[in-house]
Amino acid sequence: MVMKGIILAGGAGTRLRPLTKVTSKQLLPIYDRPMVFYPLQTLLDAGIKEILFIVSPDHAGDFLKLLGSGKEFGAKFTYEIQDKPEGLAQAFIIGENFIKNSNVALILGDNIFEDKFSKTIRNFKKGGHVFAKEVPDPERFGVVKFDKNMKALKIQEKPKKFLSSYAVTGLYLYDHRVVEVAKKLKPSARGELEITDLHNWYLNKGELKVEIIKGEWMDAGTFDSLARATNWAMKRK
Ligand code: G1P
Repeated sequence: MVMKGIILAGGAGTRLRPLTKVTSKQLLPIYDRPMVFYPLQTLLDAGIKEILFIVSPDHAGDFLKLLGSGKEFGAKFTYEIQDKPEGLAQAFIIGENFIKNSNVALILGDNIFEDKFSKTIRNFKKGGHVFAKEVPDPERFGVVKFDKNMKALKIQEKPKKFLSSYAVTGLYLYDHRVVEVAKKLKPSARGELEITDLHNWYLNKGELKVEIIKGEWMDAGTFDSLARATNWAMKRK
């Protein structure tokens, strides 16, 4: 079954002010390329050819200018606007007409992965599949707790009390049911439709696979992680 891709590149990038005062976080440079090229490459390498970019109204024109129709990348790009940053799970509501009855891979526009996902994506049929990585600062992320057989027990968004050191990274594979599930979500205390609630919906049904990734993973949304990503990209050349 075909897997479509969504790159979420909305948000105001407030943690990166003043860098993001006149441009979008996902257009900032990571060494020799705009940030969004990295998650785009991850989807293209996985064989995904239909990609929806979800962008903020302030920078939609810049994304279009940078990325165009997708022809240059051997893919087809479409664009939607996220009027306000109301949560990652909103991407599936905005993307409803794009997703239709397909499976979908959502990747965050500020997430940089070293791993390749073509095999997992080719073999994905149904349910949900997320990727975890051990990090020193789990409180910044969605965190997954495993039992001693590494079976996922629970996922919590930015836990205040230590839960585990495994962060859920920003690449998510779901079947088309995710659209209906997202529509039923209620905003969290931070006013967002949480992707973690979607993971838990699949987890409670016994349909969520949580895989630990081996390569580097960076969420370039803070000054330090942006610098780390730039360093990593430079050394890799
Ligand atoms: C988001 C998700 C979180 C995930 C992280 C990965 O966090 O809510 O579950 O671990 O992306 O980058 P946010 O960027 O909204 O703080």
